[in-house]
Amino acid sequence: MASLSFLFQLLSLISTLIVQSQSSTLPLQLLWSANQNPPPSLSVLDFGAVGDGIHYDTLPIQSTIDACASLSAVQCRVRFPPGNYLTATIHLRNGVVLDIEKGARVLGGTKLGDYPREFERWYVVAAENVSDVGITGGGEINGQGLEFVKRFDKRKNVMVSWNQTGQCFGDECRPRLVGFVNCRNVRVWNINLIQPAYWWISEWIISSCSLSDIIVAAICSHRLVVWAIEGLEQSDVFNHDCSLHIVRCENTSIHDVYIHGDFNTPNNDGIDIDDSNNTVITKCKIDTGDDAICPKTYTGPLYNLTATDCWIRTKSSAIKLGSASWFDFKGLVFDNITIADSHRGLGFQIRDGGNVDGITFSNINISTRYYDPSWWGRAEPIYVTSCPRHSKSKAGLISNLLFVNITANSENGIFLSGSKGGLLRNIKVMNMDVTYRRYTNYAGGLVDYRPGCAGLVNHSTAGIIMEHIDGLVIDNVNMRWSEYRNGKWNNPLDFRPSTVNNISFVNFYSGLERQEDKNQVEKA
Ligand SMILES: *[C@@H]1O[C@H](CO)[C@@H](O)[C@H](O)[C@H]1NC(C)=O
Ligand SMILES: *[C@@H]1O[C@H](CO)[C@@H](O)[C@H](O)[C@H]1NC(C)=O
Ligand SMILES: *[C@@H]1O[C@H](CO)[C@@H](O)[C@H](O)[C@H]1NC(C)=O
Ligand SMILES: *[C@@H]1O[C@H](CO)[C@@H](O)[C@H](O)[C@H]1NC(C)=O
Ligand SMILES: *[C@@H]1O[C@H](CO)[C@@H](O)[C@H](O)[C@H]1NC(C)=O
Ligand SMILES: *[C@@H]1O[C@H](CO)[C@@H](O)[C@H](O)[C@H]1NC(C)=O
Ligand SMILES: *[C@@H]1O[C@H](CO)[C@@H](O)[C@H](O)[C@H]1NC(C)=O
Ligand SMILES: *[C@@H]1O[C@H](CO)[C@@H](O)[C@H](O)[C@H]1NC(C)=O
Ligand SMILES: *[C@@H]1O[C@H](CO)[C@@H](O)[C@H](O)[C@H]1NC(C)=O
Ligand SMILES: *[C@@H]1O[C@H](CO)[C@@H](O)[C@H](O)[C@H]1NC(C)=O
Repeated sequence: MASLSFLFQLLSLISTLIVQSQSSTLPLQLLWSANQNPPPSLSVLDFGAVGDGIHYDTLPIQSTIDACASLSAVQCRVRFPPGNYLTATIHLRNGVVLDIEKGARVLGGTKLGDYPREFERWYVVAAENVSDVGITGGGEINGQGLEFVKRFDKRKNVMVSWNQTGQCFGDECRPRLVGFVNCRNVRVWNINLIQPAYWWISEWIISSCSLSDIIVAAICSHRLVVWAIEGLEQSDVFNHDCSLHIVRCENTSIHDVYIHGDFNTPNNDGIDIDDSNNTVITKCKIDTGDDAICPKTYTGPLYNLTATDCWIRTKSSAIKLGSASWFDFKGLVFDNITIADSHRGLGFQIRDGGNVDGITFSNINISTRYYDPSWWGRAEPIYVTSCPRHSKSKAGLISNLLFVNITANSENGIFLSGSKGGLLRNIKVMNMDVTYRRYTNYAGGLVDYRPGCAGLVNHSTAGIIMEHIDGLVIDNVNMRWSEYRNGKWNNPLDFRPSTVNNISFVNFYSGLERQEDKNQVEKA
């Protein structure tokens, strides 16, 4: 069977080559390397894919990719004409771009056997140790995430867990959608990533040193133990299910990508970027249950991430640094982003000793609200926290944050919370309009240090809560209070005594006086 299908593929490859070469008198190789010509393209149909959504097309797809890579072109495209292509994990090769046409869907298998043995490699599309790779075409990669729902629940679905493998726990034990691990020059554009079982796209970069892998594994199993002991209800420390996972990659561009995950499914992040440098995300639409854009550091630092012109809705954080934060984050820019009806807007969960330096958020429109508390988030439009995850962790410094041109409509206030060993330094908030309005019935009155640290703590609500800060400038900030019936709303600013230093307010309007006037007018 295998040899027959190989023969078939070989024949189709040869016929493809003949067709291609007839179109020009130039040798193929020259033709392909000449920039003005499109890269060669092989169709999965020519390698025996049926595209009926019932039969597995894994082998034909993989053969097309391998054939594509073996052509000595700089880049080669693997074309998926309209159809449904059910597949087990497929592996991208150097120089290969998947061209999933409009009307074509790549469907991830829903059986454990469809995925590699190692949990870290459970992706529908996996790219590991390769360069000049990508995905495009206007079609769809679909993880069939709903097939993994054991019980639908409006609060939070109960999911299938492949924990019999012993490699992962509960909510974090399902395949992801797309992973780029240890890759160079990655481009993902004009593609729809739908219903990841876990996260949608993932660049998973594998450490190049086997010794460090062992160390990492040791650290991981230690963390695993700590996690089990502490019984945290939701953890994104070890792994994360996501649509697009970028791991230890260099030079990644993601644009015009639509990510849609089930709103009630836990751990289906949008784009997770781990330990990667020089990543650009632009013109994305992300609508998902868990964190939408989530940089993390496990085995190395993360430098130079830019995300612009995106629209996000999530039941968790729209943008979140951490919580995995063992190494530094530096040089991140977020501009022109709309965050709709999310549980948390701009978030930092720094817990493991990595430092954060130089992050800018500009021109951001945020709307945050409460959802069921089993999801992390307390409707904070801005949430900056650094504290040691547990007694053996180090806290990280967070310095040089700029928030400029921010509009927020929110059910809760801003939370700026460093810790003794993890100060917030030089934070600037400029040109911000924030309207506080309660409209859901979820209880407020809690501050959220999760994961780890002090957990959920009773604390009265305030416009901005500040603790362990050295250097904060509030410049041209306007608060508005759209409902004043609730006594909990009377506190614009809340400081933890003796932990806050060097703070300046310029053109700060608490809005309360005007609100009181209005109430009196209404009563009169
Ligand atoms: C897998 O999860 C089930 C249900 O939560 C639990 O009963 C079982 O002990 C877990 N198995 C392993 C190996 O962790
Ligand atoms: C990728 O490279 C790492 C480090 O060199 C190696 O451990 C791993 O097996 C490689 N993966 C594949 C799929 O070749
Ligand atoms: C990112 O850059 C830092 C600093 O140069 C480097 O230590 C790290 O290895 C780089 N990471 C990758 C994945 O190239
Ligand atoms: C990064 O990507 C750009 C555009 O895709 C390319 O021009 C550049 O050479 C790449 N850089 C490296 C270091 O490969
Ligand atoms: C990050 O970007 C800056 C400015 O473009 C550049 O100088 C630096 O080398 C980049 N860092 C890494 C690790 O690539
Ligand atoms: C902001 O992003 C949106 C897409 O979300 C885009 O339509 C708009 O043109 C961008 N605005 C600017 C000023 O670039
Ligand atoms: C922010 O978005 C809301 C709707 O999501 C819109 O009504 C409002 O005008 C926007 N504000 C700004 C300043 O763009
Ligand atoms: C903030 O908004 C003002 C007025 O719209 C604009 O002139 C300025 O360039 C914006 N600042 C940034 C950093 O985008
Ligand atoms: C106070 O904070 C500002 C802004 O964060 C900073 O520029 C300044 O150096 C700080 N002053 C001292 C004495 O630390
Ligand atoms: C927090 O508040 C709730 C409800 O108001 C109360 O039942 C609980 O005892 C409080 N917890 C602490 C530690 O004060």
